[in-house]
Amino acid sequence: MTESLDRIRAEVGRRRTFAIISHPDAGKTTLTEKVLLYGGAIHLAGAVKQRRNERHTTSDWMALERERGISVSTSVLQFTYQGHHINLLDTPGHNDFSEDTYRTLAAADCAVMLIDSVKGVEPQTIKLFEVCSMRHIPIVTFVNKMDRAGRDPLELLDEIERVLGIPCVPANWPIGAGQSFQGVYDRKSRALLRFEKAEDVGGKASMSLSSFDDAELRDAIGSVAHQQLVDELALLDGAGNEFDQEQFLRGAITPVFFGSAMNNFGVEPFLDRFVVIAPPPVARATIQGEGVPPVQGGFSGFVFKIQANMDPQHRDRVAFLRVASGRFHKGMSAVHARTGKALTLSRPVQFLAQERFVVEEAFAGDIIGLWDPGVLRIGDTLCQGEPVEYEGVMRFSPEHFVRIRLTDPLKRKQLKKGLEELSEEGGVQVFYDRMRLERDPILGAVGYLQFEVVQYRLRTEYGVQTRFESLPYQYARWVEGDGFDADDFEKLSYGDAMCVLDGEDRPLALFETEWSMRRTVEKFSSLRFVAAVQPGRSSRA
Ligand code: G4P
Repeated sequence: MTESLDRIRAEVGRRRTFAIISHPDAGKTTLTEKVLLYGGAIHLAGAVKQRRNERHTTSDWMALERERGISVSTSVLQFTYQGHHINLLDTPGHNDFSEDTYRTLAAADCAVMLIDSVKGVEPQTIKLFEVCSMRHIPIVTFVNKMDRAGRDPLELLDEIERVLGIPCVPANWPIGAGQSFQGVYDRKSRALLRFEKAEDVGGKASMSLSSFDDAELRDAIGSVAHQQLVDELALLDGAGNEFDQEQFLRGAITPVFFGSAMNNFGVEPFLDRFVVIAPPPVARATIQGEGVPPVQGGFSGFVFKIQANMDPQHRDRVAFLRVASGRFHKGMSAVHARTGKALTLSRPVQFLAQERFVVEEAFAGDIIGLWDPGVLRIGDTLCQGEPVEYEGVMRFSPEHFVRIRLTDPLKRKQLKKGLEELSEEGGVQVFYDRMRLERDPILGAVGYLQFEVVQYRLRTEYGVQTRFESLPYQYARWVEGDGFDADDFEKLSYGDAMCVLDGEDRPLALFETEWSMRRTVEKFSSLRFVAAVQPGRSSRA
């Protein structure tokens, strides 16, 4: 028993489970590829690149999804780096940006925020940052594209602090910039690392130690930049913003690394440090209040993503489970906390690029795919021993809305079933008018592409033809409050605002403009307007 606990402790201790968050084009795919290269999982890099090449397509997205099987929706890339077992969660971005992107962060213990050195903090970065900070997960910043004539590093840090409100602590500092970007100065070891581009495309950059007195370095960046570097480092040291592990783990500061993913400059020093400071799995909050210790707690995990009908012939569903505590092993039995039923977890898989592997065992921090006969939902907990339910897998307020019109009225039953099943996957949400006078429901999604996906899947998987009418709403908030009654419901549905019910009968107010949302929030100060709710638990009294 002790031996197995020791083993679980060792395995959990070397897990690092994280996601990269960024605005499209900041270089997430490139960085992922390079991280895999340094992690020795080079054969996977091609699959990542393939995804990048195909990402701009929208209309043929569904066909692609099908052709490539589950790889597009691959939830996690796994590899080992310096003895650490890394789970890199793939957060879909670009056109397929969806609620899934937000929810995936519930399965991460840490996030790497990627910033384009030319563009700085961008809108999608802000949204994803907010989800991370709501969950108090530590954030490491990587400023990418330092090989381009970007913004001044101090100015960038200032922008991050101002816009995101998180103090930055540079872990390293760029030497030169743009074409003369030479390397980084590591503030902890006080080492000056110079990079040299790899000869072969896709090869690792070579890294050598240098010094401030190196005449060649001075020549390479110019004496003005050299002096500036010396001054900036003195300034940083003088400003006294030292890295503090405890503050970082609380999400109170973000360490910042500089580099160029494309040239592999700065990826290695970043990874070397990242695996040391990034946290292993820690106890997660449960509805019951007590966090389950990741080592001693016995097996438990929660579903953060569901992918259905990957194979249209078999109507299969895969539930992605983040192991939150203990050891999972193939064929084990666990309690499904929501229903209290025992389930045998007999066909667990892990996905690596195009391939699926049967998993024999997994530990807290790992992600596994479970074949689901239709009982699992997003947010569900599976566990051994005393049932617990994990918090944190939220539904997020959509930003796009359409009304579904059924082309063939005789297909209403199929439409209902299709919408039920597709909304369980969590890409879209279904809303109803309060009195249900309007038979056609409203769909809401975080990314517009989700509507195309739903329309396509309703047609191909459920045989239902639909027409979608765009609605003008862009903002939505769930309305909570003990005193919320029918009267308030009417009052909230005025002007450009409208109030609907979600699938669990929770009221949601829709607004066309941010201004009208703000005005309503101010006017109804006794009510709470929330942007994210826990699924499966209606907050209404
Ligand atoms: P994303 O997944 O965050 O959307 O970004 P992605 O990696 O696809 O990178 C977006 C573009 O930025 C790509 O150029 C990529 O090559 C480039 N890029 C990534 N990292 C760096 C970097 O460190 N320096 C510079 N200068 N560029 C970088 P593209 O032209 O869209 O694609 P490609 O033709 O290069 O593949």
